[in-house]
Amino acid sequence: MYRTHTCGDLRIHHIGNDTTLSGWIQRIRKLGGMTFIDLRDRYGLTQLVVDEKAPTELKTKIGELGREFVIQVNGKVLERQNKNPKMPTGDVEIDIKNIEVLNTAATPPFTIQADTDGGDELRMKYRYLDLRRDVVRNNLVLRSKMAIAIRNYLDSLDFIETETPVLMKSTPEGARDFVVPSRMNPGEFYALPQSPQVFKQLLMVAGFDKYYQIVKCFRDEDLRADRQPEFTQIDCEMSFVEQEDVLNTFEGLTRQLFKEIKNIDPGEFPRISYADAMDKYGSDKPDTRFEMLFNDITEIAKGKGFAIFDKAEYIVAINAKGATNYSRKQLDALTNYVKRPQVGAKGMVYVKYNEDGTFKSSVDKFFDHNDLKKWSEQCEAKPGDLLLILSGDKFETQEQMCELRLEIGRQLDLIDKDKFNPLWVTDFPLLEWDEETHRFYAMHHPFTSPKPEDIELLDTAPGKVRANAYDLVINGVEIGGGSVRIFDSALQAKMFRLLGFTEEQADAQFGFLMDAFKYGAPPHAGIAFGFDRLVSLFAGINSIRDVIAFPKNNTGRDVMNDAPSTISDEQLKELYLKVVQPEKKQ
Ligand code: AMO
Repeated sequence: MYRTHTCGDLRIHHIGNDTTLSGWIQRIRKLGGMTFIDLRDRYGLTQLVVDEKAPTELKTKIGELGREFVIQVNGKVLERQNKNPKMPTGDVEIDIKNIEVLNTAATPPFTIQADTDGGDELRMKYRYLDLRRDVVRNNLVLRSKMAIAIRNYLDSLDFIETETPVLMKSTPEGARDFVVPSRMNPGEFYALPQSPQVFKQLLMVAGFDKYYQIVKCFRDEDLRADRQPEFTQIDCEMSFVEQEDVLNTFEGLTRQLFKEIKNIDPGEFPRISYADAMDKYGSDKPDTRFEMLFNDITEIAKGKGFAIFDKAEYIVAINAKGATNYSRKQLDALTNYVKRPQVGAKGMVYVKYNEDGTFKSSVDKFFDHNDLKKWSEQCEAKPGDLLLILSGDKFETQEQMCELRLEIGRQLDLIDKDKFNPLWVTDFPLLEWDEETHRFYAMHHPFTSPKPEDIELLDTAPGKVRANAYDLVINGVEIGGGSVRIFDSALQAKMFRLLGFTEEQADAQFGFLMDAFKYGAPPHAGIAFGFDRLVSLFAGINSIRDVIAFPKNNTGRDVMNDAPSTISDEQLKELYLKVVQPEKKQ
């Protein structure tokens, strides 16, 4: 028997017991003639002790130990002289009688403890060592707990967990596909699913009524802190439901998770339309943990001879309350912040509403006291407040102001890290116009249903059609998205036409779905949550990498096993593939 207890088990009431423990050596300390060893396993740390009166043979063995050796020890549980209240096992220590080295270990490249000296890349390369650290493993324990809670909840509502293929036909979800060559079908490729979208809709045609799957999805897109090339969705679909049913079911799921995992009741989730979210926060995933809403001052700021405003489609101000004492240097730094290519503004105008009721602005040449007073009234500003203003093309300016608002929120310490603000964003546009390719794209995906009252606009003003589509947003993160689906093959065909598919193309790509719709498709709707994002939010960390056991780095590489890698000429030949080397950059 390798162990009678784990390294997290032993307490004061075990004193006097014999115990056998197995685990990894975290630390060895010598103090006078005594040796102390911290023994670690998944469950905790236990202090082992060998005193100077121990037999020579045992002391020799102890002298040969090193960090991360895997050992088995047997001994008696003693009360500690110096108790450690920070450790659950801190009242006791084990007086070692026997020790067996189960495996030696090379010196690890970084220290395996909470505050490690290992840099990011090094820890990724030796991820299995990083995962020995509590702080990293705890995120995966949380992930496991959440997955179980989700399964229990959906199972209690009669959802059927169904696996769908990983080798499939490409479904457009807006990103590039990862493709897999087929040896048995020369020149043909599978695509890895960007999501199981079409399969879950087919399961509705099959009468499954309620489907879910905690499922890997793959998207070949540029990576960020909240994006991985392979990630996990909690994917769901329901039949004979309307938008309201989906929102209620998945609000219920989210609230259950908050209750079970964090003991929090976030209350009923507010709802905001896409148009309002853009107008008030300049984002379809607003962080509502602080106010500082947008104020459209276009009408009152134009026509005073300030060319930048006069040319602008849209002029927007935010009120940084109590920030009138911002120095010139701080304001310059903010201007530089919005001018960074990632934000892309051309400049920023500020208005200080001084404590004495006067104004000082960066555009005093063009606007007098009364003008600035009007703006500040629009922004509900008081003496002591600071207005920050951006202008230009409406959509771009909204996005830029969104970044500025978040930055000011951080600077003024308005974002409470312990707060969770979930909300539903609804009524997304069905289509978005792309200037470059000069065509419409589906904002969510091509299977999303237009709002019935907007259907007639499909022919006259497609850009104005709103969709029965919704996102769950928490603290400025898009946690999930879904929609009511089109279940009528004629409307689906029309949608494909709008998206620029010829009949042949639509048939080649989606003929199977259109066919299925001819055999009695029920009305259906669904949603998918980004599971990695949800776990990282619950764990209070920014990057989803930390909640994935073996993540990719930001160039999509697994630095531990060095994937992706080349394959042999034989493999290439077998797959009828030829590698074309990329042109070297000059
Ligand atoms: P959507 O594309 O909005 O919808 O994806 C659903 C959720 O998946 C998460 N997500 C990601 N997480 C990590 N890395 C990524 N690269 C990544 N991409 C997306 C987000 C997102 O909200 N089939 C539809 C759902 C439906 O209509 O039912 C879909 O996939 O949290």
